[in-house]
Amino acid sequence: MPAGVSTIGSALAAPTFFPAPAVPRSAPVGTAEKPLPLIIDSDPGLDDALAIGLAVARPEIDLLAVTTVGGNADVRHCTTNALRLLHLYGASDVPVAEGSAGALFGAIVRATEIHGESGIGNTTLQPSPSTPRPEGAVDLIAAILREHPEPVVIAPIGPLTNIALLLRLHPELSNRIAHICLMGGSIGEGNTTVSAEFNVYADPEAAAIVFESGVPITMMGLDVTHQAVLYTPALERLRGLGTASGGIAAELVDFALAREGQWYGTPRMSVHDAVAVAHLAIGDLVDVAEYDVQVDTGHGPARGRTVGDGLPVRRQRKGREPNAQVGIRIDRDRFEDVLVDAYARLP
Ligand code: RIB
Ligand code: CA
Repeated sequence: MPAGVSTIGSALAAPTFFPAPAVPRSAPVGTAEKPLPLIIDSDPGLDDALAIGLAVARPEIDLLAVTTVGGNADVRHCTTNALRLLHLYGASDVPVAEGSAGALFGAIVRATEIHGESGIGNTTLQPSPSTPRPEGAVDLIAAILREHPEPVVIAPIGPLTNIALLLRLHPELSNRIAHICLMGGSIGEGNTTVSAEFNVYADPEAAAIVFESGVPITMMGLDVTHQAVLYTPALERLRGLGTASGGIAAELVDFALAREGQWYGTPRMSVHDAVAVAHLAIGDLVDVAEYDVQVDTGHGPARGRTVGDGLPVRRQRKGREPNAQVGIRIDRDRFEDVLVDAYARLP
C-alpha cells in the first residue's frame, strides 16, 4: 500500500487463528455393505431434521436410535418432532427416547428465534404411530452400547447434556463408543455469542466433559458448517422431488432461509447438523485437521468458547495432545447434491 494512502473502508479484519493442515480422517465411515451403527442425539431443529433424513436415506448408515435434548426448542417439542420426522421418512421403527430438558448447570438456552417455538418453523408433521421409549435417552443409549455387537458411533447434533450424563453414569461404556462425530463449537467466532456456538453455549460444562473424555471426537464446528450453506435454488430442487419428504424439507429450508437470511442479508441456511452425518457416510466430503480443544466454562464473555489449538509447538509447550479432529473444509455444491439425492430416496 503506497505511503499515505488510507485503507479506511477497504481493509477487512483478518482472523489470526493458526490454520492447521488437513490430516487423514480418524472417524469411521460406513459402506453400503457394512453400514455404520449410529445413534443421533438431537434437538430437532430445522437442520437436525435434514441430518436425520440424511441418516435414514444413506445406505452407509444404520440408524439405531434418535435421542432428544432440549436446545433449539423445548425437549417435548424435539421429541415429538423426532418421532414425526422418522415417520415421514418411513423409519418409525427407529426408537426415540427423550433426554435432558436443559443444561447441567445454569439457565436453559433456546434458539427459537431461528427454529420457531415448535423447533420446525411453521411446519405441521403428521403424528407418528410410535411413542418415546420409557427408559429415556441415557438408558436407551447405554442399552444399545451394551448390547450392540460392535462399538457404536454417536452423532450429537444438539447440546451435549445427554452425552455428558452417559459418560458420567456409565463410564464403563465409553469404550463401546466407536467415535463421537458432533456438530458444535468453532475454532473461530461463535454464533450465539461472539465466542460461542449454540450447542456448546447451551451447556459448556457438558461439552467440557465430552472433550476431556478421551473418546475419539470429530468436531464439525462453524468453521466448516458455515460452508455447508443452501440458497434458494436448493429449495426448488427439494420441492421439485414431488415427495412428502422433499416437500417438508423444502418447507423447513424455506423457513430457515428467511430466519438466517436476516443475519446475513441474503436468504441462506447453514445446514450445520447434516455435516456431522454426511462425514460418517462419505469418506472424502469433509477435510479435517487436528486440534486440542478446551471448553471455556467460565462466566465471562468467552463462556462456551471451544478454544482450539492447532499449533504443535504450542501444544507441546502445554503438554497437551490433540483431542479432536475439526472440520475445516467442505465442497458446498457437492454437499447440496448429497442432501437432495438423499431426499430423492425418501418417501
Ligand atoms: O450452532 C448450530 C447448532 O445449533 C445446530 O445444531 C442447530 O440445530 C442448533 O442446535
Ligand atoms: Ca441441532
